[in-house]
Parts: sequence; structure tokens; C-alpha cells
Amino acid sequence: MDSEITIRTAQLTDLEELSELYEKLMREQMAFDRFAQILDSADFQKLVFSYLTSGKSKFFLAEKNREILGFIRLSIYSGAKLERVDTLKPELVWKKFYPRRILRKILSWLLNRIEKSIDSSLIFRQLRVGYIADMFIKQEARERGVGNLLTNHAFNWFRERKVSMIYLQALSENHPGVSFWKRQGFSIFRVFMRREI
Ligand SMILES: CC(C)(COP(=O)(O)OP(=O)(O)OC[C@H]1O[C@@H](n2cnc3c(N)ncnc32)[C@H](O)[C@@H]1OP(=O)(O)O)[C@@H](O)C(=O)NCCC(=O)NCCS
Repeated sequence: MDSEITIRTAQLTDLEELSELYEKLMREQMAFDRFAQILDSADFQKLVFSYLTSGKSKFFLAEKNREILGFIRLSIYSGAKLERVDTLKPELVWKKFYPRRILRKILSWLLNRIEKSIDSSLIFRQLRVGYIADMFIKQEARERGVGNLLTNHAFNWFRERKVSMIYLQALSENHPGVSFWKRQGFSIFRVFMRREI
């Protein structure tokens, strides 16, 4: 493992670089799912901006000599609800009060309520769990321990927040990804299936 690799929280100033990495992640993942398609209108900057500013996920970056090698994005769920895990940048707060945003917030609140009532029979709903939403290491930086480093950092971050169970999802065709997670101690506990009709 390279000793000069450091880990830090992502900032808004990383938006452009992170968006490029996200696009690479999505394009790479597409190869593992023949039904996946990236929309022509896909706006990765907008997506990453929302991740960075919603306060509901935590981004850690691994870097070497100021070059970003990869990232991991984490969140915490209490029952079916996403917890706030990062602070919103104060200068962005007022922008949240556009009428359209308010309407969107009301709609998403309503949808959340509906979703929760559907989910209310889940026996897990009171558990507080960690979730690894996304992880990506640049192709040229792989198999040098960067993934290990970011994952250990994530585990510590979760432990400090009293999270004792972590979930994640991977595409079943992503054999390198699944092997990586198994090396990190994860095991498959549920199989998500589909068919075309
Ligand atoms: C999966 C990924 C995160 C691994 O990152 P990495 O920095 O190359 O991993 P590391 O070098 O830290 O390897 C950690 C362990 O996983 C194993 N591993 C890494 N890549 C592997 C691969 N392609 N196949 C099998 N095992 C692999 C390593 O051998 C190592 O095992 P060890 O701890 O016993 O030595 C990286 O390949 C990646 O970003 N892939 C594309 C995105 C992706 O698939 N994300 C995760 C799935 S949701």
C-alpha cells in the first residue's frame, strides 16, 4: 500500500473531478447490467452536487499528491429514514427555499410517508444501519490497497457513530466488485431477482 495516500472529506470544490469519476463509475457499471442505460440528458454534476449538499451522505476521497484516486459515499438509515450525516454549506441553505423546491420537498415527504407505511411490516425498521452507497477507485490506482484504505476509514466512521451493521449493493455480474466486498468481510444475505415480461 502507498504510504502517501491520504483520506479527506469531499468539498464542493471537488465537484467537477468527482462528477467525472461518477460518470466513469456509472459507465463501468453499465457493462455489468445489460438493461442499464445512461440517459443522454444525464447530468453528473447535478447528481454529485445534490449528494454533496443534501447533508444525507458523507463522501471520503483518497488522494495522493492532490490527485483524487477514488471515493466512497456513505449514509446512515434509522429504520427507513435517511439520517443527516453531514452539514449543509450555509451559503447554500437559502437556495433551498425556491417554491419549486418546496413543492418537491412536500411531494417527497408525502411519498416517503407512503413508502414508510408500505414498509412498516419490515422487522428491520428500527435498526440503525450504515450504507455504502458508492465506491470507485480510478482504474490506474486499483489493486494497490486504496479500496482497503477507504473501506477501513468508512468502518471507523460508522463505528464512531455507533453503527454496527453495514449494507451495500453490487451488481451480481460485477465479479471483481463482489470479490472485493467479500475480502472486506461482507456476505450475501439477500438475492434480488428480475425477469422481463
Ligand atoms: C472494487 C474496487 C473498489 C477495489 O478497489 P482497489 O483499490 O483495487 O482494492 P484494493 O487494492 O484495496 O484491494 C483490497 C482487496 O480486494 C481484493 N481485490 C481488489 N480488486 C479485486 C479484483 N478485481 N478481483 C478480486 N479481488 C480483488 C484485493 O486482492 C485485496 O485483497 P487482500 O486485502 O486480501 O489483499 C475497484 O476495483 C473499483 O473501483 N471498481 C469499480 C467500481 C466498483 O465495482 N465498485 C464496487 C462495487 S459496488
